[in-house]
Amino acid sequence: MSKLKIAVIPGDGIGWEVVPEGIKVLEAVGAKYDLDYEFIEYDWGCERYHKTGKLMPDDGIETLKDFDSIFLGACGYPGVPDHVSLWGLLIPIRREMKQYVNLRPVRMLKGMPCPLSNRSPEDINFWVVRENNEGEYSEIGGRLHRGTEYEVAVQESVFTKFGTDRILRYAFDLCEKIGRKKVTSATKSNGIIHTMPYWDERFAAISEEYPSLDTDQYHIDILTANFVLHPDWFDVVVGSNLFGDILSDLGPAIAGSIAIAPSANINPDGDLPSMFEPVHGSAPDIAGKGIANPIGQIWSGSMMLEHLGYSEAADEIVRAIEEVVSGGGPKTPDLGGQANTKDLGDAIAEAIR
Ligand code: NAD
Ligand code: IPM
Ligand code: MN
Repeated sequence: MSKLKIAVIPGDGIGWEVVPEGIKVLEAVGAKYDLDYEFIEYDWGCERYHKTGKLMPDDGIETLKDFDSIFLGACGYPGVPDHVSLWGLLIPIRREMKQYVNLRPVRMLKGMPCPLSNRSPEDINFWVVRENNEGEYSEIGGRLHRGTEYEVAVQESVFTKFGTDRILRYAFDLCEKIGRKKVTSATKSNGIIHTMPYWDERFAAISEEYPSLDTDQYHIDILTANFVLHPDWFDVVVGSNLFGDILSDLGPAIAGSIAIAPSANINPDGDLPSMFEPVHGSAPDIAGKGIANPIGQIWSGSMMLEHLGYSEAADEIVRAIEEVVSGGGPKTPDLGGQANTKDLGDAIAEAIR
């Protein structure tokens, strides 16, 4: 029996409601596929910040290095400015653990209500590969002349050759691995004069290493429109940190609900743990009501098992999600139903047994 050591960080808001459902389903699939877990939970997040002035303890990153994976809910809550909370927990983990890939599937599940007319699961099935360590999310910059008429705010984007090439190669490798045809690049080289032409240049250079794959590129503005109008055009979409962020909320929205979208913050070198979390945030508007949809969290558990090498168990989770969604199982309000978080988590765990 394999024993997997998992750090669990529910974080904030609905993180505390959906993470237990994610664990419930991991336990159910573990019983079936002979996986054993050691879950260690940490109370890191905004409440801890109010008590101690820190989102996580000073040795938090060191603590996480001992784990096989990190299972996170969401971070950020009203009362703590978002740039403080996210730069105190989520973003440092992504960087310190060298999780330079943020992999986000966009898939319409059978039975999922879709806001686009005449679209079926065959039409909406692609991957967003988001750069996760640099780009627009940089600490370089600052403010001058605070509080005066001359106040200035400057924020630099950072695109290194190393960082750009490795995310582009990851996208092409993924496309080959999953047997799909085309890698689409998100750019904005008409308006962003330095970094985006550089991104395009590297995309063209790296694509030459993959002669059997097709390529395509769009400026981010029309690309967002094409996600809505032609979701069937895409296999793998690769984007910088910010573009990938935006596309990976839009993608799940066209596929039915932001609440079902999973993500994997991957360190492909494997020297440090990767982290698995839903794409959505802490949803303060519904936190505490017990009605959050746990599917994004549960599906993130599947991505975790896939990453750790347990593909069959991972596939079983997605199969169970689809069985419940398409088989008239409980639906949370975001899916048009009245079920609560626990009902949906129970139904998915039951579909595994
Ligand atoms: P959000 O994703 O938390 O919520 C957006 C909307 O989607 C809300 O109406 C919410 O109720 C709904 N929603 C989200 N998840 C849902 C679920 N599982 N079930 C049902 N409905 C769901 O985005 P936001 O409002 O922009 O951000 C709230 C906080 O979360 C902020 O502090 C933000 O910085 C943070 N955030 C964190 C992460 C993360 O930890 N990875 C991601 C996004 C936002
Ligand atoms: C996400 C979130 C985060 C991001 C925020 C909360 C910093 O939106 O994981 O998509 O932009 O990376
Ligand atoms: Mn986001």
